[in-house]
Amino acid sequence: MEIVGSSKIRKDAFDKVTGKARFVDDYKRGDELYAVTFRSPRPHIKIISIDTEEAKKIEGVAGVFTYKDIPGVNKVPLVFDDYPFLAEDVCKFYGQPIALVVAVSKEIARKALKKIKLKYKELPAVFDPLEAMKKDAPKIYGKDNVFRAYKIRKGDINRGFKEADVVIERTYRTNYQVHSYLETQGMLAEPSIDGSITVYGTMQCPFYVLDAVSNILGIPQSKIRVVQTTTGGAFGGKEDVPSIVAGHAALCSFLTNRPVKLIYTREEDFDSMSKRHPGWINIKIGAKRNGKITAIKVKYVLDGGAFATLSPIVLWRGTVHSTGPYDIENVWVDSFAVATNKVPCGAFRGFGQPQANFANESIIDELAHELKMNPLELRKKNFLDIGKKTATGHLIKESCGLKKVVDKITKISNFNKKWKDPQNKKGRIRRGIGIATSFYGVGLGAEGKFLEKAGAHVQIFKDGSVLVAVGNTEMGQGAFTVLTQIASEILGAPYEVVNIIEPDTTRIPDSGPTVASRTTVMSGNAIINACKILRRRIDDVVRDIFNVRGKVISKNGYYYAGGKRISYFDAVKECYNRRVKMAEQGFYRVEGTTFDRKTGIGDAYFTYTYSCMVAEVEVDIELGTVKILRFYSGHDIGKAVNPKLAEGQIEGGAVQGIGYALYENLVLEEGRIITNNFTGYIIPTIKDIPDDIRVVIVEEKYPNGPYGAKGLGEPPLIAAAPAIANAIFNATGKRIRSLPILPEKIVFQE
Ligand code: MOS
Repeated sequence: MEIVGSSKIRKDAFDKVTGKARFVDDYKRGDELYAVTFRSPRPHIKIISIDTEEAKKIEGVAGVFTYKDIPGVNKVPLVFDDYPFLAEDVCKFYGQPIALVVAVSKEIARKALKKIKLKYKELPAVFDPLEAMKKDAPKIYGKDNVFRAYKIRKGDINRGFKEADVVIERTYRTNYQVHSYLETQGMLAEPSIDGSITVYGTMQCPFYVLDAVSNILGIPQSKIRVVQTTTGGAFGGKEDVPSIVAGHAALCSFLTNRPVKLIYTREEDFDSMSKRHPGWINIKIGAKRNGKITAIKVKYVLDGGAFATLSPIVLWRGTVHSTGPYDIENVWVDSFAVATNKVPCGAFRGFGQPQANFANESIIDELAHELKMNPLELRKKNFLDIGKKTATGHLIKESCGLKKVVDKITKISNFNKKWKDPQNKKGRIRRGIGIATSFYGVGLGAEGKFLEKAGAHVQIFKDGSVLVAVGNTEMGQGAFTVLTQIASEILGAPYEVVNIIEPDTTRIPDSGPTVASRTTVMSGNAIINACKILRRRIDDVVRDIFNVRGKVISKNGYYYAGGKRISYFDAVKECYNRRVKMAEQGFYRVEGTTFDRKTGIGDAYFTYTYSCMVAEVEVDIELGTVKILRFYSGHDIGKAVNPKLAEGQIEGGAVQGIGYALYENLVLEEGRIITNNFTGYIIPTIKDIPDDIRVVIVEEKYPNGPYGAKGLGEPPLIAAAPAIANAIFNATGKRIRSLPILPEKIVFQE
């Protein structure tokens, strides 16, 4: 291999660095209108009337639309159909969309917004998921406010605890996390010449947007074109909610027959778009004196907000991974995604795992403390490995580099020496080191298997340039670069002449969502399937030209066979002369994942990525501030298609994980976010991150992955917070059981 495994320059680097890349708000149509959203002023209301007459009278207003104007179905299509595009009789969270104003300018639209008269009655609201689960709580969803519950029952939990020499039980909490993508949500919808409608915008999942636009307009999917524009960050925050923005923009365009732009302000984006779920996790764990864990019992509650959106699936991923990368015989998990009168939570890098992992990797450290063991040794006694089983009873048969990752990370961080011999444990400034591990099921898993597919279309032009169309998106993670490398490697085409275009639903089959760290495996395999067919045809031509048999090898832009060579470009030309079909579709789907909802047993995912992180911190115990001195992050990803990009993902995940652990604090009052911008909501800057982030990549090949690759997008964030919390304990003896670890928690704990 010459292209896969080398650190090629990003396909999108030049355009992004020079400012040539165009984000949705950069597009001008000349005759476009601007839409703004009228939202619920309170967390739970019964709507009595909406009067839009005054607003409509303002000069320059092209329309004011409510649910009554929706020609199709007023439901955002996702797991459940509980979320209306525009509220009808009730609003369940502050900021829920009620109406849309369309005008010739944003200013006029905003002016008209103030003229909408809403009459409503306040309803009792509930903001805490544990309160919402109580019998007498105000009802937001169903009979019990539970969107979804899961359980895992493996082994005999009572026997497991009886066998234990030490049993501890602890409760942990995590707060929201905001994606903080630089580009806010935005869409541009316009009528097309043929009477169809085109929607452009920032998004992860064009096929979700297609479903949504078709739903709200009540027109066939074949009459809709969804095109992703350059996307300025997403992190899960552009998985499902762009469906709402796109639905609104499409509705306004459809009803006015004009191009309509709908671009969110930062505050509006904070108020109404998805977040990482706050989590509440209670764990009881038992182990023998020698460190063998005999039983673990978990209760995991996610604060879902007002509508289900992705909560059921976020909960499922969290549940499956809630007992960590360990082989534990007796497992009991109960988990709940609960409705509250707050902004709906959804996908965010890690998808229900970071909350559970913070709890699980913290309690492992607490258990080690009780057992008077080194926390690394305790983990090593229980790690998953080939021949061991996950919490859902999934027997690991291949591609498990957990021990290798842990050995490498603990060696380069000198963990054992530093952990035993922490410095300065007496003064005001105290240093400590902490470790945490995780595993990550790649792809959508058994509960999402009906979406687990991807398509690709590969076309080789006469001049040898190649166009690859895929259904998964580039959102900054480097997907296009990695996928180009894969196509280039198989075809034998120079990397520079292969291009990938942003997904367009009219030219590529539904490829599922761009989530779950699945793109390299899914789109990668779809591309391989298309390119293999093309390559076979080219090879036949090459053999025929040289009149030889046997294998054709590609290298440095040439095909070699029978001791002769022809350049890639000449071979393509010859294929064209012979009228060879030079375009192909590829498709890939995964079979074999299982999950039994009654027992929680099954082969939940097709493969897992394994991770280990170590943090070295310096804590000022008077100010409660934490400085991360060094951060080590290692991952078994099967194969690094582009090592430099993999490193970038790992460093980025560390920074986002540090933010989650120490700084990011969304504050709500009566269901309303009061830190709804970057003045109030603090994310780490370059000054807050360690100078020294060390990356380790282990490549235990996954046989069904492209060149052995698994997934990497999300794991780099997951174990960061517990590694930091464990380091703070090692430094200070203070165990902080809630995120973020704000200075006051450190100062005021015992
Ligand atoms: Mo991702 S959090 O699976 O969009």
